[in-house]
Amino acid sequence: MYDIAIVGASGLVGRMFLKGLEEYNIKISNLTLYASRRSAGKKLIFKDKEYEIIELKEDNIGNHDFALFSAGGKISERFAKIFTQKGTVVIDNSSYYRMYDSVPLLVPEVNMDSYNGELLIANPNCSTIQTVVLLKALEELEINRVIVSTYQAVSGSGRNGINDLKRTLKRKNPLFYPYAIANNCIPQIDKFSKDGYTYEEEKMINETKKIMDINLTATCVRVPITNSHSISVNIQFNKEFDIEDVKNRLKRFPGIMYYEEYPVNEMSNDQDYCLVGRVRRDYSQENTLHLWCVADNIRKGAAINAVQILDRIIKEKL
Ligand SMILES: NC(=O)c1ccc[n+]([C@@H]2O[C@H](COP(=O)([O-])OP(=O)(O)OC[C@H]3O[C@@H](n4cnc5c(N)ncnc54)[C@H](OP(=O)(O)O)[C@@H]3O)[C@@H](O)[C@H]2O)c1
Repeated sequence: MYDIAIVGASGLVGRMFLKGLEEYNIKISNLTLYASRRSAGKKLIFKDKEYEIIELKEDNIGNHDFALFSAGGKISERFAKIFTQKGTVVIDNSSYYRMYDSVPLLVPEVNMDSYNGELLIANPNCSTIQTVVLLKALEELEINRVIVSTYQAVSGSGRNGINDLKRTLKRKNPLFYPYAIANNCIPQIDKFSKDGYTYEEEKMINETKKIMDINLTATCVRVPITNSHSISVNIQFNKEFDIEDVKNRLKRFPGIMYYEEYPVNEMSNDQDYCLVGRVRRDYSQENTLHLWCVADNIRKGAAINAVQILDRIIKEKL
């Protein structure tokens, strides 16, 4: 039995952590729900029992076996180490620690073997997770380079994103995105960095390199969809491939659900799989493949990936 804490329990990802802990049948002796002062005193249900949210403060942090963090980078920066100093394994959903050399960046189907008992673990960016799952399925074919274009749902911005879609659908001004997300695709996720890339694009590029040592470039776009991110992926291999072999590798890989035609967002909502379709040869250059992938960004792209890491650590005594 494990003492488990959730930081950011009232958020979209936080609530999904709760669902995931139940679905993955994690044995819990004590559950503590932290959020900001705004949510303190509110109650959430876990396995038919009510739990009160408490305010996250330095002086009320308990001794937990595991803490699942999803309250943004600033909260992770300020609090994650306080938890690890008490011996708690922290699985952090924010981007804050992802590129630290000492912090493993884990996707269970892809690189669980790189985990060496560290107390601080990072969950990759939502779009990175679904990308590396499908790249792992094709890794033996020797990937040279990858180009990704994303079509990312508003739930990826948490409650702010969903509220902005609802507001702008009613023709009210946006409060969160730079333009009305209703009726627009916005080719900007997060701030702009050097050379015209956004932070979201840099996260995908750097995280894929850290997890799989693959050269990838990305254009990340926010679209007026409530949930599940879609990605268009173009992969150049170092050598010739057989299209049926590619399809069979995708069909066999744990974590992928293969579609001979294609999946759409509503098929992916509430699933833990990465749904892959539109697999076809790119005739514009040698050894190149196109495909389409959809995944639930709150589940596999965030909360469930973290719960799967926790589950593997417990089951495999890592
Ligand atoms: N949504 C996704 O697809 C996704 C994917 C990967 C990673 N993430 C990351 O996960 C994090 C949260 O995402 P979300 O979608 O769940 O956002 P959200 O729905 O807006 O929830 C934010 C959570 O953070 C808590 N929080 C904010 N300020 C806090 C403070 N000062 N102290 C303690 N808790 C605080 C909020 O508590 P209150 O209710 O009290 O405000 C709430 O529980 C972000 O870092 C995001 O980048 C999200």
